Amino acid sequence: MRVDILTLFPEICRAPLSESMMKRAQQAGALDLRIHDIRDWAKDKHHIVDDAPFGGGQGMVMKPEPIFAAVESLRTAESRVLLMTPQGRRLTQQIARESSHQQHLIVICGHYEGIDHRVVERLVDVEISIGDYVLTNGAIAAVVFVDAVVRLLPGVLGDENSAEDDSFASGLLEAPQYTRPAEFRGWKIPDVLLSGNHAQIAAWRKEQALKRTRANRPDLLQE
Ligand code: ADE
Repeated sequence: MRVDILTLFPEICRAPLSESMMKRAQQAGALDLRIHDIRDWAKDKHHIVDDAPFGGGQGMVMKPEPIFAAVESLRTAESRVLLMTPQGRRLTQQIARESSHQQHLIVICGHYEGIDHRVVERLVDVEISIGDYVLTNGAIAAVVFVDAVVRLLPGVLGDENSAEDDSFASGLLEAPQYTRPAEFRGWKIPDVLLSGNHAQIAAWRKEQALKRTRANRPDLLQE
């Protein structure tokens, strides 16, 4: 998969997407990631990328010209253009999975008070929010989105099955996990995990997953 990120802050994206699994995905050829500075497409002398909002109001709005120029120079017939914005559809595992089937993602990071709406109307296929809170910068949201998508690409996770057990893949949160020591500060792990009885362990995990989901995310059980 090819991913182009368009941001005013390339460095915010670079480090988190060049470590661990994201590094491995690139080394394995599963991910061709390019991080671009939108300013490189601002053709005026001072590389201006924002301006005051028409109609008045606080803050600055990202200008359309550099963003159109960037996307038009990068896109092909296979590209899907996304905008990271708190006004977007809320990111879910399903959106991550659908996105992982695309050949080419162009991810635009918003900044300032917003982005000229002609970008949304004429250029963007889908607006994505990573949650109901406001970050200073869409680049942080883009990192979250790209990580969630890339780990689903074939060959990126060591064990092909491990994405299957994820929270949300089953509709429930994951059951608790424990590792050695079996007793720590006097706190013992549940006996069933030492029983060697796989059917009982599976039943315990299912019950714990339900309990955790009920406590932390009752909304997942209501659908
Ligand atoms: N930019 C600022 N806040 C954001 C959010 N919650 N999701 C996506 N992009 C954002």
